[in-house]
Amino acid sequence: MKLSLPALTEMKTRGEPIVMITAYDHPSAQIVDRAGVDLVLVGDSAANTVLGHDPISTVGATMDELAMLTAAVARGCERALVIGDLPFMSYQVSNEETVRNAGRFVKDAGADAVKLEGAGQSVQRVAGIVAAGIPVMGHVGLTPQTATMLGGHRAQGREWHKAKKVFDDAVALEAAGCFAIVLECVPEPVAAAITSRLRIPTIGIGSGAATDGQVLVLHDALGMRPGAHEPKFVKRFAEVGEAMEAGVHRYADEVRARTYPAPEHTFAIAPEELAAFETAVGVGAEQNILADW
Ligand code: KIV
Repeated sequence: MKLSLPALTEMKTRGEPIVMITAYDHPSAQIVDRAGVDLVLVGDSAANTVLGHDPISTVGATMDELAMLTAAVARGCERALVIGDLPFMSYQVSNEETVRNAGRFVKDAGADAVKLEGAGQSVQRVAGIVAAGIPVMGHVGLTPQTATMLGGHRAQGREWHKAKKVFDDAVALEAAGCFAIVLECVPEPVAAAITSRLRIPTIGIGSGAATDGQVLVLHDALGMRPGAHEPKFVKRFAEVGEAMEAGVHRYADEVRARTYPAPEHTFAIAPEELAAFETAVGVGAEQNILADW
């Protein structure tokens, strides 16, 4: 059964950590759902994890790409809530365009909610999406889509006035109707202050242990991008990339050595059916022709 939004708030009240992770395809969605995560984000991090855009920027992801990935993920999640991440320029132009794009995620792709970055203009976008009946998650601190404006992919809120801005942004997003807010790369005491001020849950990434939940990019958490740039806050919980490469090596070796496929991977045919088939296609005659070559 699907988790509900009030259940998330109750988890905050009980002090029960909320687990969120990204997924971008159906089998991964089934795996993370079976593993019991609460929230699955089809992040615009798809740009660099699975779509091969710029290795550190999320700006390249498009609505069409994320809508397709979201549909695949939504079909794989029975319990976890699925959140479609509004990509850069899908919510900046107008409220109308924003609501239409949020609606695509929910109506066409089957997401339960959407996420967008920033405050300022994003606050009224949140209000517009919520007014249309679509739950929205906010995202403050380091907002990767506008990292250039922030001076790069770096921690935010390390000076008191900047920390205050992150705090005020989070409060404004809650007032506009967000059901939860991602806090990315803010100092732990700042994240703690925001978490205790808000009634809605905070989900941290690179923001310490005081938030109500945590999120990581699946490919970072499972070591699926060996050699890729890894932010300071990432912890690898498995080495799936190495296991995949080793597995493909073994497959290639066995194909080349003709040890795969083995008899147990092969379908049989009854001897009389085979004999009739060989007569029908003239296998014997063909073998004679080949012998003549
Ligand atoms: O796109 C993404 O994966 C995200 C998370 C890192 C929060 O926004």
